[in-house]
This record gives sequence, structure tokens and C-alpha cells, in this order.
Amino acid sequence: MAIKFSAEPQNARILAVGAYRPARSVPNSELVDRIESTDEWIQQRTGIESRRFADADESLIDMATASSLQAISRAGLVPENIDAVIFATISYPYQAPSAATELLTRLNNSTAAAFDISAACAGFCYAVALANDMVRSRTATNVLVVGAEKLSDFTDLDDRATAFIFADGAGAVVIGPSQDVGIGPTVWGANSETRDAILLEPSYLEYKKHPGKTDLGWPNIAQQGQTVFRWAVYEIAPIALRALAAAGLTPETLDVFIPHQANDRIIDSLVKSMKLPDSVVVARDIRTSGNTSSASIPLAMDALLAERPDLHGKSALLVGFGAGLVYAGQVVELPPVPKNK
Ligand SMILES: CC(C)(COP(=O)(O)OP(=O)(O)OC[C@H]1O[C@@H](n2cnc3c(N)ncnc32)[C@H](O)[C@@H]1OP(=O)(O)O)[C@@H](O)C(=O)NCCC(=O)NCCS
Repeated sequence: MAIKFSAEPQNARILAVGAYRPARSVPNSELVDRIESTDEWIQQRTGIESRRFADADESLIDMATASSLQAISRAGLVPENIDAVIFATISYPYQAPSAATELLTRLNNSTAAAFDISAACAGFCYAVALANDMVRSRTATNVLVVGAEKLSDFTDLDDRATAFIFADGAGAVVIGPSQDVGIGPTVWGANSETRDAILLEPSYLEYKKHPGKTDLGWPNIAQQGQTVFRWAVYEIAPIALRALAAAGLTPETLDVFIPHQANDRIIDSLVKSMKLPDSVVVARDIRTSGNTSSASIPLAMDALLAERPDLHGKSALLVGFGAGLVYAGQVVELPPVPKNK
């Protein structure tokens, strides 16, 4: 029996982006005493001047909802128009049901297909790849892609290796049908032999196996900073260049570069290795947002478009990389001028 798949492929693009930044800005000076550090050291090593931390009663889903509603409204749509939600996160504190279905209840849309993905700081680019394929193959019409993190819940503020890096925030895009190709091929993969370079341990099962054991600790992020730094600096530039070439662009014809906001020095190194000319606008949201993992690329995209409205509709190379270690990159056409504020 031959199975029929009658849908004609269609093009997809980002229709709009939305963002939510918690109100509380935390400067380095608030963190340095507990980790014997200084504002200068943090700025020099990472570029981070301040980051946002959500309030204790402000949840991951509160932030995701705000960014999603903004993206949907800017696309000129209403939540009922969304027929699939892909939620990229590593900080939703429940294993089931998914963050995506909690978000659906908040959007008053109870019927869209909804699922989470765990690809850490590459999560947004992984989700864009899936959403693009879903729209292209007409499995869905308007896909809401959310990258949201409340990493302050999983960061040990006494850990010198992580306390100053991770932060909270949410970004969302709506990906829908388009006349032209608005999202290029995704280049993605993993280097799983170094999967212990960034960990969130122990697992829930450890608490069950060792009831009453008090020294298990909370599952905070632990990372081998230098291993991650070296991997990002040496491995990611060739991947980003492959994504650029796959879309038929070159460093000279690219308008904007929006890498995962992990560290300003990693961004500098990528720009240099890829030989990006000065004409390419580079997103530097890390300085006031910290590393928000799956939220960092849509947050940086939103900030850039707010500052430079002339970049709407321009080409942008996105590249995400992080725990796994996993990576993904693709060229997108930045969303058009929003239909609503
Ligand atoms: C985390 C990171 C900033 C640490 O910088 P580093 O140069 O690798 O730091 P090291 O651990 O090698 O330590 C270097 C020196 O700084 C000191 N140091 C380490 N942490 C410090 C801190 N928080 N404040 C002040 N000094 C610190 C060390 O004691 C050491 O001092 P010494 O030279 O006198 O022995 C850096 O490794 C990094 O950015 N890695 C990538 C992290 C990342 O982006 N993760 C997310 C990926 S998605």
C-alpha cells in the first residue's frame, strides 16, 4: 500500500518576535562578594555588566506567556491562530506535563499541538528548525516557538564558575507561511563525548534513592568553563559558516549575526574566525541580559530590532550552542515591522 502525503511544500518565515525581561536588573556588584570576584573581572572575562533575575513568585510560564502574547500580537494574530507550540527550556521544574501545555492554558488555546525540547542554549535554533519543517510540510500553519528560562532557580550564587553567568528571561517568535524562503537550512549536531562539560545534577531519582540524605544538594548548573569556552571558540565558527553557505550567503552578503549570548569574548572570537566584515551588525545583548540559554537569541533579536528598526526584513545568521554539547545554526529573514506594538 502506498501512503499518500498530498500537501504541497510551502515557504516559512519568522512573522514576529516578542520578548520579556524581568524588571529586576542585577549588577555584578550584587554578586561579587559571595564569589570573591570583582565587577572588572566579570566584565573583562564575559562582557556582562548586569543581568535580569525574575522575582521568586514570577514563574517561567509567566515570562513565556508575556513574550508569546507580544509575538502573536505583533504578527497580527490571536492565540487561537497558533496550531503548534514548541517550548525550548532547561528550567521548567516539572517533568510532565510539558511547559508548552501550561503555556497553552495561559494563552486560552487548549487545542494546539504542544511539546518541549531540551537542547539548552541551542534550544531556540533547534525549535526554529522544527517549526520551519512543520510549516514547510503543512503539518502546522502558525508555530509559536518559545525560548524561556528561569536559570536563577538552578544557579548557585556561591559558585565562582557560574553565579555571574546565568540569568532569566523569555523570547518567542511566530513562524508561519511565507511567499519566499524566510528560513534557510539548519546545520546542527552534537559533541556528546563532552556532555559532562555542563550539567544539571543530581537527578530526581537520587532524592528517591537516598531519602533523608541532606548533602545531595539542589540541582544547580555546573560547568567546566574552559572546556566550554574552547569548544565554542574552535568548533562553532565552522558550523556557523556552513549554515551561511547552506543559505547561499557569504560573510560579505550577510546583514546581521545573532549568536547565542554566552560570553562577549566568545562572540568576538566567532566574528574574527568567520572574518565577518564591519558591515555585519552583531548582537551584543549579553552585556545587560547575561546568559539566558534558550531565551538569549530571541531576546537579542528583539533588542536589536528595537534599537535598529531598519534591520526588519534583513538576513540574520543565528547560531546556538550549549549543554550536550549541542549546536544549531540557520539564516533567517528578520521579521517585518510589527503589525501591532
Ligand atoms: C567561566 C569563565 C569566564 C572563567 O574564565 P577562565 O579564564 O576560564 O577562568 P579560570 O577558571 O581558568 O580561572 C582563571 C583565574 O581566574 C580566577 N577566577 C575564577 N573564577 C573567578 C571569579 N568568578 N571571579 C574572580 N576570579 C575568578 C581563578 O582563580 C584563576 O586565578 P589564577 O589565575 O590566579 O589561578 C570562562 O571559562 C568562560 O567564559 N567559559 C565559557 C562559559 C560559557 O559561556 N558557558 C555557557 C555556554 S552555553
